[in-house]
Amino acid sequence: MTLSATVVGGSGFTGGELLRLLVGHPEFEVAQATSRSYDGKSVGSVHPNLRGTDLRFSDPADLESVDVLFAATPHGVSMERIDAFRDAADTVVDLSADFRLDSEAAYDEWYDGHSRPELLDEAEYALPEINRENLAGADLIASGGCNATATILGLYPLFADGVLSGDEQVVVDVKVGSSEGGAGGGEASSHPERSGVVRPYAPTGHRHEAEIERFLGTSVSFTCHAVDMIRGASATCHVFPDGPVSKGDLWGAYRGTYEDEPFVRMAAGGSGVYRYPEPKAVAGTNHAEVGFELDPSNKRLVVFSAIDNMMKGSAGQAVHAANVALGFEETAGLEFQGLHPVGAP
Ligand SMILES: NC(=O)c1ccc[n+]([C@@H]2O[C@H](COP(=O)([O-])OP(=O)(O)OC[C@H]3O[C@@H](n4cnc5c(N)ncnc54)[C@H](OP(=O)(O)O)[C@@H]3O)[C@@H](O)[C@H]2O)c1
Repeated sequence: MTLSATVVGGSGFTGGELLRLLVGHPEFEVAQATSRSYDGKSVGSVHPNLRGTDLRFSDPADLESVDVLFAATPHGVSMERIDAFRDAADTVVDLSADFRLDSEAAYDEWYDGHSRPELLDEAEYALPEINRENLAGADLIASGGCNATATILGLYPLFADGVLSGDEQVVVDVKVGSSEGGAGGGEASSHPERSGVVRPYAPTGHRHEAEIERFLGTSVSFTCHAVDMIRGASATCHVFPDGPVSKGDLWGAYRGTYEDEPFVRMAAGGSGVYRYPEPKAVAGTNHAEVGFELDPSNKRLVVFSAIDNMMKGSAGQAVHAANVALGFEETAGLEFQGLHPVGAP
């Protein structure tokens, strides 16, 4: 029996990706896709890749009763509408940052506070590779942020395997594509302004630092650049270990953590043109690529991680989390392997 699903914010970028995944998912049937701006219009009129589906947008004020509701709305909407979302669905998967942090104090520090702090304990953060056991049966899920996901997947094995203690200096630089800003990305993401740039946009104080530090249990120095891609988040993490680290230690940590993971693949040297993680190689997929290189003369270790921000960084991660929560095959609806060769994603 298939489960019914609603996508609130179905006209947005991540909402469109959710709809693409859900219409091809063996366990879900899309019951409703909402948009206030496109109420009554066909989904294909906004997402041309979905022409041919007979879905139409409806008003989010009139939520149908479904099994699962995915909220792909701007920050602040889910915390305001969470009661309506939970009345409409048994399971709510939120793609925004509204339930990712664990305390009101953290929202006061990193955001503009929180209107429903009593629910923060109930929500499960979703980065299934790392906390799938908490997701089984969860009914309020906060899908991890895109830059945070890229960074955490890159660094996590080093902490999990004891290569790093947590006292080391870690400097992270993430390059992101314009789709991170959403469909209404504004002037900074308009084509003439974005084209050709490598523009620092959050040199310090990026909100995802809070998620990364919560998960890794250590502080990271984090900077973001807006670059001329549409899809993709590419993290370069400079780590300065206290003692010697060998390639064997690194392979042991990364293989030990990820060898059975369906959505994480290693790209660490090897041969060919794409020897390290590459956003283009994972565009449209739920895969993350992770790799590393040692720099002994500078006592440095550099870690790379690449994802598609709208897939592993949001819609794909949300569907993966729902699969785990509901007991489906983890890979259901997420098998797409990507394209090669392909133009800039
Ligand atoms: N883009 C990414 O790469 C990415 C990655 C990870 C997480 N996220 C998070 O995912 C969420 C969605 O991002 P996005 O990039 O898809 O944004 P987007 O393209 O701007 O889409 C936002 C959607 O929300 C709807 N919406 C806006 N205000 C609403 C309201 N008050 N009530 C109901 N619906 C409302 C919009 O449609 P109408 O205004 O027509 O209703 C639209 O469908 C954000 O919280 C974002 O931070 C995004």
